[in-house]
Parts: sequence; C-alpha cells; structure tokens
Amino acid sequence: MPDPHIPVQIRPATLADLPAINDIYNHYVIHSTCTYQEEPETMESRIAWFHRHGVSHSIVVATDDVGTILGWGSLSAFHPRSAYRFTVENSVYLRHDVRGRGLGKAILAELISRARDLGFRSIIALIDAEQAASVALHKRAGFTLAGRLTQVGFKFGQWLDVVYMQLTL
Ligand SMILES: CC(C)(COP(=O)(O)OP(=O)(O)OC[C@H]1O[C@@H](n2cnc3c(N)ncnc32)[C@H](O)[C@@H]1OP(=O)(O)O)[C@@H](O)C(=O)NCCC(=O)NCCS
Repeated sequence: MPDPHIPVQIRPATLADLPAINDIYNHYVIHSTCTYQEEPETMESRIAWFHRHGVSHSIVVATDDVGTILGWGSLSAFHPRSAYRFTVENSVYLRHDVRGRGLGKAILAELISRARDLGFRSIIALIDAEQAASVALHKRAGFTLAGRLTQVGFKFGQWLDVVYMQLTL
C-alpha cells in the first residue's frame, strides 16, 4: 500500500502533465541505467509520445493530495507489426525522492487493470538486469522472467544486460 503520509490518486495523463512527466524521466536519463536513453527527452518528442498513445494505450499519473505529480506509468505498443497488437510494453517512473513507498506498485496495478480492460493479452517489461527495485516490483506483480539479453546496452562506460519480464493476462 502507498505510504499513508502521501495519499495518491492515479488518473489519466493530460497534455498539461507532460513537463512533470519529462522532468521525472530525465532525472533517470542523466543519473541511471534504468533507461538506456542517454540524452534528455525533449518536450517536442514527449508531446509526440503522448499523441501516439491515445485511447488504446494508457498513460497515467499519480498525484498527491494537492495535485503534484509523483510518478507516471504507460502502456505502449510492444512492436509495430500488426500481429503484436495484443501485447504492450509498460513503463513506470517515480520522482526519485518518493521511491520505496509502494507508489510504483500502485501505478503498476493500475496499468495491469487497464491492460486487462483494454483486451491486451500480454504485458512486457524490458528492465536493466541490475535494477533490483524494478525487477522486484514486476516480480511482485506476477511478472515472470522471460529472457535475458547480455551486453546489449552501453551506458556510463559499462556493458549492460536487459531482462524481459512478462505477465500474461
Ligand atoms: C522501479 C520503481 C517504479 C519501483 O517503485 P517503488 O515505489 O520504488 O517500489 P514499491 O515501493 O512499490 O515496491 C515494490 C516492490 O519492490 C520491492 N522493492 C522496492 N525497491 C526495492 C529495492 N531497491 N530493492 C529490492 N526490492 C525493492 C519492494 O519491497 C516491493 O516488494 P514487496 O511488496 O514484496 O515488499 C521506482 O523505484 C522507480 O521509479 N525507479 C526508477 C525508474 C525505474 O527503474 N523504472 C522502471 C523502468 S520500467
């Protein structure tokens, strides 16, 4: 459960949320291997990302009781080929100072519920193998390890492995 000291609401994202979504994400672009992106996401590409989602692929934000965005999650197309249309890839990113309080779990639960309601069959998470919090979060939500790709990423001067985790709905 989320920490009772930070009551959260989870709602669909709007265009007005994109600067906060981008700030949360770009912290990890600069400081972490949890994303393999190396240059900060621009607002222009974030807006295009938002418009690619629409009704069939959700973006949600978690806010505190005064509406401050603490984290976000998304369901994106896993692959552009049409036969993959029942499969989505999920992302969850929290403001770095509110991690470890159950908020990631709450956002992921919301994404799983939405994926089910939208009729998707499978959710895939691509996770840097060293990201213990993300692996634990997905495992706790019922995702299982589907595979590992070795040394497919290179960031901060080191080779990185990716694990695929999958939840069949
Ligand atoms: C990964 C992330 C979303 C997890 O959210 P969170 O709110 O910190 O995690 P929660 O508090 O909901 O914990 C979920 C589970 O993971 C475990 N966990 C959390 N942090 C952990 C850590 N650093 N090491 C090991 N386990 C951890 C928790 O114990 C909990 O399991 P439990 O219910 O069995 O106790 C968050 O830490 C984050 O935004 N990290 C940076 C971005 C990122 O890696 N995103 C994932 C890319 S898909």
